[in-house]
Amino acid sequence: MRDSAESDVSTALLRWYDDHARTMPWRVAPMDRVAGCVPDPYRVWLSEVMLQQTTVAAVREYFVRFTTRWPDVKALAAAPDDQVMAEWAGLGYYARARNLLKCARVIATVYDGKFPSSYEALTKLPGIGPYTAAAIAAIAFDRPETVMDGNIERVMARLFDIHDPLPGSKPKLKKRAAELTPDERPGDYAQAVMDLGATICSPKSPACGVCPVRTWCRAQSAGSQFELPKKSPKKPKPTRHGHLYIARRNDGALLLERRPEKGLLGGMLGWPGSDWSETPVPAPPFPADWTVLRGEVRHTFTHFHLILRIWTANLPDGTIPEGLIILDKHNFRPNDLPTVMRKAHSLWRGQ
Ligand code: ADE
Repeated sequence: MRDSAESDVSTALLRWYDDHARTMPWRVAPMDRVAGCVPDPYRVWLSEVMLQQTTVAAVREYFVRFTTRWPDVKALAAAPDDQVMAEWAGLGYYARARNLLKCARVIATVYDGKFPSSYEALTKLPGIGPYTAAAIAAIAFDRPETVMDGNIERVMARLFDIHDPLPGSKPKLKKRAAELTPDERPGDYAQAVMDLGATICSPKSPACGVCPVRTWCRAQSAGSQFELPKKSPKKPKPTRHGHLYIARRNDGALLLERRPEKGLLGGMLGWPGSDWSETPVPAPPFPADWTVLRGEVRHTFTHFHLILRIWTANLPDGTIPEGLIILDKHNFRPNDLPTVMRKAHSLWRGQ
C-alpha cells in the first residue's frame, strides 16, 4: 500500500508535469490525453528504442525521418534492411536497428500490427528489455509499471538520500520507485519523472529551488544532492588500434564493405580495414601504393577507445576484390555510414 507521503509525491509530480511537460514528437501532451487522445504504441516503441543511451535532442530528427518514411509498424516491417540501417546511421549501437526491424516484423506478422500491452509479452520481443517494456507498457498503455533509467535512478537516490553506489544500489532504487508509482495516470507519471530528471534534477546542477518535490527530498534537506548518486569506480576502457583503407576510382567511385551481421557495427557500410586490437595486422584490400593520411581517427565505443590510421590509394578499373562493394559517387552518402566511418571520410576529405 502506498502511504500518503508517496501519493503526495506522485500527485505533485503529475501537477508539475501538467504545466511543464516537454513537447516531443512521440508524446501526447497531458491536456490532449484528458481530451481522449491516446499515444501510438508504434511511436512510443520507436522513440524508446532510439532513446536508449542517446539524448532527446539527438533523437528528434531521426524519429521524424523514420515516421515520415515508415508511418506505422507494418510499413517499417516491409522496409528493406539496408534502407533502415542507412536511416539509423549515426545513432550508434547498430544491433539495436537490426532488432528494431526484427521486432517490427514479429509485430506485423504474429500480432497483425498491434503491440501487446503487457510487460511480460513486451519483454519477449526482439530488442525489448526491462526498461523498454516498462516504458511502453506505462506510456502507451497506461499500465502501472516501474520504469527505471539513469535519470530515474538519480531522482530516487536523491529523494531518498541513498548513498550506496550504483550499480549495486539498483534494486533498492527500483523498490523505492515502485512504491511511488501511482495507479492513476502511470504513463504521465513515468514521463514526469523522466522530465524531472532531465531538466530539474540534473546530474551536476540540480535546480532544487524550483523542484516540485523538494519538500519530500531527503538529499536536499541533508545537502547531499550534489554527491548523489554515488557510483562504483569504473574499469578504465582499453585502447585498440586499427587501419582503414579508402580507395577511390578516377571517376569518384569508392570501395566499401558491408560489415558482417554479427558484431560491432553489424550490417553497416564501412571502409575495409584491419582487425582492431593492440597490434593490428595491416590488411589493405588489394596491393597498391597506399599512403597514410596525416592525423588519425579517434572514436569511443561502449567498451573501448579506438584509434585508426587511414590509408588511401587509387582504385584501378577492373575486378573488385571479393566481398567488397563499389559505390559510384552519386550513390555514396557519408550520412549512411556509422559515425566512426564518417570520421575517416572527413579526415580524408579534409586533406
Ligand atoms: N527518455 C527516454 N524516454 C523518454 C520519454 N518518453 N520522455 C522523456 N525522456 C525520455
